[in-house]
Amino acid sequence: MTARPTLVPSPPWEGRRVVLAVTGGIACYKSVTLARDLTRLGVEVDVLLSEGASAFLRPLVFEGVTGRPVLDSLWSAEGAARHLRVAQEADVVLVAPATADLMARAAQGRADDLVTAVLLATRAPVLLAPAMNSRMWSHPQTTRNAAHLTEVLGYTLLGPADGALAAGEAEGPGRMVEPESLVQQIGRALGRTPPWIGLRVLVTAGPTREPVDAVRYLGNRSSGRMGFALARECWLRGADVTVVAGPVSLPVPEGVEVIRVETAREMRDAVVPRAGSAQLQIFAAAVSDFRPASPLEGKRKRGSGQDPEADAGTPPRWNVDLVENPDIAMETRGHGPAGTLRVGFALETDDLMTHARQKLHAKAFDWIVANPAGEPGAGFDASTNRGWILDRMAPNTPEPIPLASKEDFARSILDRVEERLTAERDCS
Ligand code: C5P
Repeated sequence: MTARPTLVPSPPWEGRRVVLAVTGGIACYKSVTLARDLTRLGVEVDVLLSEGASAFLRPLVFEGVTGRPVLDSLWSAEGAARHLRVAQEADVVLVAPATADLMARAAQGRADDLVTAVLLATRAPVLLAPAMNSRMWSHPQTTRNAAHLTEVLGYTLLGPADGALAAGEAEGPGRMVEPESLVQQIGRALGRTPPWIGLRVLVTAGPTREPVDAVRYLGNRSSGRMGFALARECWLRGADVTVVAGPVSLPVPEGVEVIRVETAREMRDAVVPRAGSAQLQIFAAAVSDFRPASPLEGKRKRGSGQDPEADAGTPPRWNVDLVENPDIAMETRGHGPAGTLRVGFALETDDLMTHARQKLHAKAFDWIVANPAGEPGAGFDASTNRGWILDRMAPNTPEPIPLASKEDFARSILDRVEERLTAERDCS
């Protein structure tokens, strides 16, 4: 499953121009959803319909969801002027679905219809979402066209995916990638920012579960939303992102590798070998500081271990011994390539700033985000957050981050990281 963040105007989509070229495959009905969702995110979507696409859909359906005129012909004075303008003004061009025929003609540099002419005229990044019968996809000529489009022209192919094809056909590769993934991929094409491109990012997220017996565990109310929002936002800016996540029930963000763990020790075992190559490390997990020292193998029954000496009416007790878990952030201090940046979190019920400052130094973070615990709408298990960010360079002047969605909160944190990454790049 892919992430379905709320569709409200937001970076990197808001205010940007996307040309959505629709060619004549049955998957083109999904492009209506794509055009609608991009519009909701604040994109100005210019839809182009090829002759084949016009056989499936009328311009009005796209005009209804984008609120903008659709171009469906090169052969008018207005069409000729506009196709050059939209090609020039586009921030990204996406062809979805891209048929085998479109791929062949684009690979040859033809310009005999609206879509191919726009592809030649634009200098924006071009993404193609192929959709066709699996035999057409696996034909050596299509393979060659695909290689030319990616290797020579620098286009990005998204898919095709495996799965059910048009009615009456078997399953196989050839299915168009789903609109919600394409929306995210367009976001990455729009959001790519130099210091992030190819940056290796490791994020810890969610709670951990420490077994008490075969069915019970010690855990906390962390939802993992903050860590996942940070991971998604780093990916949108162009980074390669891995999340090591405790048990969370969130959709996997597009493009992000998610490694699932349960306990703090499993999280440590997943993080330590990866920290060595991670240039940005974000510790957003609420790792359980303690675990039961000797979890029971079976399920403990009610009444077991009852003290025969106890007064009647005294409920039986179960004393569970706890030991401290490894501190992953502490253990990975100094891991990572030269110039690695580290972000930590501190959620506290009291003396927030004092504890945050201590952790900032002890765990060698470059920034620590301090969240008040127990406040509605902030910290654990909420969709919004509020807090302060403390910079190791100026730990005594915490900067407030006002109440915001965890996506916006993540952007505020990463804008500071981006500033540092850019400054370091400029110095080197
Ligand atoms: O638990 P504590 O408040 O000390 O956590 C502060 C920071 O350390 C957080 O960024 C958290 O993800 C990280 N941490 C960790 N391993 C632990 C405990 C905390 O990485 N066992």
